[in-house]
Amino acid sequence: MSPAPQHLDLVVVGSGVAGLSAAVRAADHGLRVGVVTKGRLEQATTRWAQGGIAAVLRGDPDSTDLHLADTLAAGDGLCDETAVRVLVDEGPGRVLDLIARGAVFDRDDAGDLDLTVEGGHSAARVVHAGGVATGMEIERALVEAVGSTAAVLLEQWFAVDLLVEGGECVGVVAVDGGGESRSLTADNVLLAAGGSGQLYAVTTNPTEATGDGLAMALRAGAAVADVEFMQFHPTALHHPRMPRPLLSEALRGHGALLRDHDGERFVDELTPRDVVSLAMARRMHEAGVKHLWLDATGLEGFRTRFPTVSAQLAEVGLDPTTDWLPIAPAAHYHCGGVLTDLDGATTLPGLWAAGEVACTGVHGANRLASNSLLDGMVFGARVVEAVAAGRRAAGATGPMRSLTGTSPDGIGVRRLALTVPEPGVDGDPSAGREELQQAMTRCAGVLRSGESLAEASATVAGLSGRFGGASTDPDRAEVANLFLVAAALVAAAVERTESRGAHTRDDHPTSDGDQRQRLVLTVGTG
Ligand code: SIN
Repeated sequence: MSPAPQHLDLVVVGSGVAGLSAAVRAADHGLRVGVVTKGRLEQATTRWAQGGIAAVLRGDPDSTDLHLADTLAAGDGLCDETAVRVLVDEGPGRVLDLIARGAVFDRDDAGDLDLTVEGGHSAARVVHAGGVATGMEIERALVEAVGSTAAVLLEQWFAVDLLVEGGECVGVVAVDGGGESRSLTADNVLLAAGGSGQLYAVTTNPTEATGDGLAMALRAGAAVADVEFMQFHPTALHHPRMPRPLLSEALRGHGALLRDHDGERFVDELTPRDVVSLAMARRMHEAGVKHLWLDATGLEGFRTRFPTVSAQLAEVGLDPTTDWLPIAPAAHYHCGGVLTDLDGATTLPGLWAAGEVACTGVHGANRLASNSLLDGMVFGARVVEAVAAGRRAAGATGPMRSLTGTSPDGIGVRRLALTVPEPGVDGDPSAGREELQQAMTRCAGVLRSGESLAEASATVAGLSGRFGGASTDPDRAEVANLFLVAAALVAAAVERTESRGAHTRDDHPTSDGDQRQRLVLTVGTG
C-alpha cells in the first residue's frame, strides 16, 4: 500500500475541464493540489464533448450582451443573470488561457479562430478543435499541463464520500486502486465529478457519469438545486451502441435538416435544444416511431469538416453524404447540481463545486449549446481564486442569493426535504443500474406526467431498498449514487407542476409564472 498523501490545500474530485482547469490554476498559485479520479485522468466526460466552446472572441456583429441574452433565453427564466454575466465576460479570457497552455483550435484560411453557429446562438461564436473533437483536445492539453504541476495525481481512486467535521468539509474518503479505504485531508475540496447521464437507458454520457459528486454532496448535507432539469440532446444516433454516438449540434449549424418519419421538416433546427427535443419526442409519440432523421446530405465537405463524426458513422455503415441519419433524443447534460455562489462555494464550508456537478445558475432550466466547457473553465478558475484568497464559506451571490431571499431577478426559492429511501445492499448492482435506467427513461424523460413520475418514484424507492446501500465497492457505490440522484431528480420533477425548459409535464403543459423559482433540496431537512 502506498503512503497516504500529505494534507493538501485543495483536493479536486474529477478530471474533466472544470477540475483540471482548477488544478492547473491552483498550482500556478503555489497551492498543493491533488486530483482524485475514478478512471484515468483523460477518462472524463469532457473528452466526449463535441461542438465546442461558446465565447465572444471577436466583436461586431457579436457581443457578450448577445451571448448573455441567448443564454438567458435558452435557460427559460431560471438563469441567474449575474452568473451568466460572469460566464460571458470571463469566458474569452479562459479560452485564451487554454490556447496559451497548448490547446489547438481550428482556424480559417486567414489564420483566425474558425467560429460556428449552434442552436439558440444568434451569432457564430463556437470555437472548436478537430472539427467537433473539441473536448478531446481540451482534455489533452489540460492532462499534459496538470501532469507537471499537481502535487498528487490519484488515478483509479474512487471518491466515496466527503469528510465532514464540525460542519465543514475537511477532505474525502476514497478507495484506492488496491481496494483500500483511504482518507485524504485537505483545507478545501472541489467537486468537479461531472454529470449523471447514466440515470437513463439512452444517453450520450459515458458509463462513468453516475452522479457521484452530486450524491456525495447530498449525503454530506449540502444543498442542490434545479436537478429536475436533465437536458436531452436531440440528435443522438439511433443505434444500439451505448453511449449513443452524438451527432453534434454543429451539423445543424452548418445546415443539416431535421426530418420526420414522412421526410417532412417540422421544427426550426436552430432553436435551443429543449425545444427541438420536445418537438421530436412529440412527433415520435404521435407517429409511434422510435426515431426521426437528420439529413446532412446537403452539407459540403462533410468529411473534412467533421472527420470524427464521419469515422463514427462509417463504423456503423452510414454515409452522411447519401444517407439520412436515424436520430432520437438522449440524456445529455444535467443542468442543475450542487448549489453554489458566484465563486463555486457551496452551502458546506470548505466544499466547492464546478462544472456539470454544480448549479452555478448559468444554465437555468436548459443549457445553451456549447456553454458547458465554458462553464467548467470559468467557474473552475473562480474557485481557485477564492481558495487562494482564503475564503471557505459561500457568499450571498449568484443563485445562492435565492436562499437568503435577496435575488433581485425575481427568481423565487422553494426548499424541499429529500426523503432518502431506506437503502439495502442485496443483489447484482449492474441489474439495479439497468432497472433504474429503464424506469427513468420510461417515466422521467423528455415527457413526464404526475402519473409517470409517481411510478418513477416508487421504482426508485423499491430498487434503492435492494441496491442503494453505502459500499466501498466502486460498482455498488456508483449504483447507490445513481439511486440518490434519481430520487432527487424525481422528487423535484414531481413538485414542479409546470413545463419549463428541459422539464415538460404533459399534465401541466405551460409555464407558470408563480413557479419561476429554484427548487432547492437537502437530505432530510426543509
Ligand atoms: C454538441 O456538439 O452538439 C454537444 C455540445 C454541447 O453539449 O453543448
